[in-house]
Amino acid sequence: MKKNIDEILSRMTLEQKSELCMGQDSWYTKDFPELGIPAVRMSDGTNGVRIIRTREEIKRILGIEAESTFFDVTVLSQNSEKINYIDPATCYPSGSAIASSWDTNLVSSIAAAVAKECHYKQVDLLLGPGLNIRRNPMAGRSFEYFSEDPVVSGEIAKAYVTGLQNEGIGGTLKHFTCNNSETLRTKTDSVVEERALREIYLAGFERALQAKPWAVMSSYNLLNGVQMAENKEYLTDILRGEWGYEGMVVSDWWGIKDRIKAAIAGNDLEMPYNAFNPHILSDAVRAGELPEATLDQMCHNILTLAFKAVENHKVVEHIDYEKHHEIARVALEESCVLLKNTDHILPLRRDEKQRILVAGSIAKNMRYQGGGCALINPTRLDVPYDEIVKFAGENQVDYSAGYDDADQTSPEMLKDAIAKAKTCDVVILFVGVAVSTDIEGCDRKRLDIEESHIQLIEEISRVNSNIIVVLSNGEAVTMPWANKVKAILEIFMCGQAGGSAIANILFGKTNPSGKLTVTFVEKIEDLPSYPEFPGENARNVYNEGIYVGYRYYEIKKIKPLYPFGYGLSYTDFAYRNLHLSQAEMDDNQTLTVSFEVENIGAVEGKEVVQLYVAPPICRLRRPLKELKSFAKVNLKPGERKQVVMTLSYRDFAYYDPEFRDWIVDSGNYQILVGKSSQEICLEKSVLISSTKERHVRVRIDTVHAELFQDEKATLAYFDFLVEKGVFNLEDIGDELRTSFSQSFVGIYNTLPTYAKQFISKDEVQKFLDGLNKQLGRDPQEAN
Ligand code: BGC
Repeated sequence: MKKNIDEILSRMTLEQKSELCMGQDSWYTKDFPELGIPAVRMSDGTNGVRIIRTREEIKRILGIEAESTFFDVTVLSQNSEKINYIDPATCYPSGSAIASSWDTNLVSSIAAAVAKECHYKQVDLLLGPGLNIRRNPMAGRSFEYFSEDPVVSGEIAKAYVTGLQNEGIGGTLKHFTCNNSETLRTKTDSVVEERALREIYLAGFERALQAKPWAVMSSYNLLNGVQMAENKEYLTDILRGEWGYEGMVVSDWWGIKDRIKAAIAGNDLEMPYNAFNPHILSDAVRAGELPEATLDQMCHNILTLAFKAVENHKVVEHIDYEKHHEIARVALEESCVLLKNTDHILPLRRDEKQRILVAGSIAKNMRYQGGGCALINPTRLDVPYDEIVKFAGENQVDYSAGYDDADQTSPEMLKDAIAKAKTCDVVILFVGVAVSTDIEGCDRKRLDIEESHIQLIEEISRVNSNIIVVLSNGEAVTMPWANKVKAILEIFMCGQAGGSAIANILFGKTNPSGKLTVTFVEKIEDLPSYPEFPGENARNVYNEGIYVGYRYYEIKKIKPLYPFGYGLSYTDFAYRNLHLSQAEMDDNQTLTVSFEVENIGAVEGKEVVQLYVAPPICRLRRPLKELKSFAKVNLKPGERKQVVMTLSYRDFAYYDPEFRDWIVDSGNYQILVGKSSQEICLEKSVLISSTKERHVRVRIDTVHAELFQDEKATLAYFDFLVEKGVFNLEDIGDELRTSFSQSFVGIYNTLPTYAKQFISKDEVQKFLDGLNKQLGRDPQEAN
């Protein structure tokens, strides 16, 4: 294919090349039939395929004259009338939901189903998955993303891309990177330390790249002062240079402000079509502002993707939407998280005498998806109330709305709910956040659920103590009411089959097995980025650095409401026999960790097992522990399985900006295996020896105490001073070291107090340059 592409490129004019590097409309790249170049069709998003109907389709199908701009359809939410401007497709649970399954096979199977729908709709490239770190739950698009942790984010995204691409549909990792809030998202500067970038915000992308996604989408924001769409350091030096990415980079829609800078930075495709710009790149080549070789490389990346898409075309004439609805149902059943289950109130008995009140209007009008470019027009919708009735029988179930669809309640509504709650044995209470809370384009206004929903919980809890809350929200909420209810089932944005999945869980047909991929806090003030988030004057400073999510709560000893990795089951699991392949090792060896998990309860269930590493004291501060591996294990009652995980260099390393590298310090590393970040069941340590010699750069203002930590550098330094006559050989000893160590000023400013002879700053600097070279430091580094 390469030769073919080169040959096609040789026949293209500069203008054609420029046009190829921009969409031909909102969703297609430009085709050139005369050159045999096909168009690539793109579509959002992670939880389904979103095809916007054309004007003709809207007229033919809906009988109305209408057209929407890209901006119109990007602000829609599930209840917008214009949802019908979108072609129906299966609406799967949100990213925040499916990640909570911690099940990479499940995620791949969802993606495979999405891919089939893509083929059916002749889509080549899906604009997902989105895997930005869920830094703060107030971020409007967090519901699309996977986790506060890069290992979970990266593994889930990798599984998603694998599922898509195995079916011949390209995946797009987005939004690269640090688009962690929606407020002024195209002009906000995310100000992030290099270490936090490497360990938290880039790490998930780096991991997901193992799946070789066809595309990566640059994000809207600026990062440390540079527009991401134009950021060469990230789009080329790191993405392609360090990580070896060979696919295409596409801009986020209208995210490019300076096309030439973006091209030089490595942004191949500008989306969507921009009537002001079609020949901007060819003009730039002619004006000597853009090398033609750069434009050729951009075209090469686009053409490679376009031909790959053609090779993978499949004619799919029919989609079994019933089957896909089932996949959406299973997806939620595996993902929803049982947060509380006092007195084993769940699963509900199927008992003819038991009267159930279903309360909360969400039970009939489900809040099943977030808004924005992730919005899907579902093929059908399961209604939780109806599904509950199917299990319990119509005569056993009563209903009270409690609040209306605009989340308003009234004395009458509350009175009705209270009266009915009094006569029922158990209340299934549907509460959550307002429609449009989880949406692209704006951040959340509150972390709690709706006021009227809280009021309903409080009123009902006065007359009935058997409350089971079903919670609809895309991202974490606070729950000051949690102690008033017996059970809480977190269903996130549950997708179109949520209703039946919820009923299956409530009545025990399915055993819940999801666990949280973010921490739920008790109050908004506990959030690491509170109150700064989302910044001011379009500057969002990531003050918490590497301490994101559980890394922060643990080091600050803040008790979360529900910790990262937490979730209950209808059965229980025991962990046993942790074995490490060695007790001591070099940092270049791998460690095999094995342990057993047993289902010690009465029903079949799945357990998400988690492995964390707690480091020793290192040169730089580190989180108390970090997740490094996980697995989901299915076990029948009494069944026991062995789980094997391997750890290698990067699992023990931290990123040290001083060395611009990943470092493993020597010491004892604790291997922790457990049910959640807060429930560690097994623990053993391994002694790791660092094999790499590393030296901190010595600068003219390095203080002596710092220098003396490096014996090699210290000896060379004293030799130099003796050679220059600044000291006599016999002066060099412990005493001098002690005196020098007391100086809090740098090397050169300390010398006049002790020196026997003058030495110039230039001479010392020259020596340091040589020394740094000898120590293996890059001579290009600033002094
Ligand atoms: C969103 C992207 C999306 C694109 C196309 C943008 O506004 O940020 O996630 O893929 O629109 O819909």
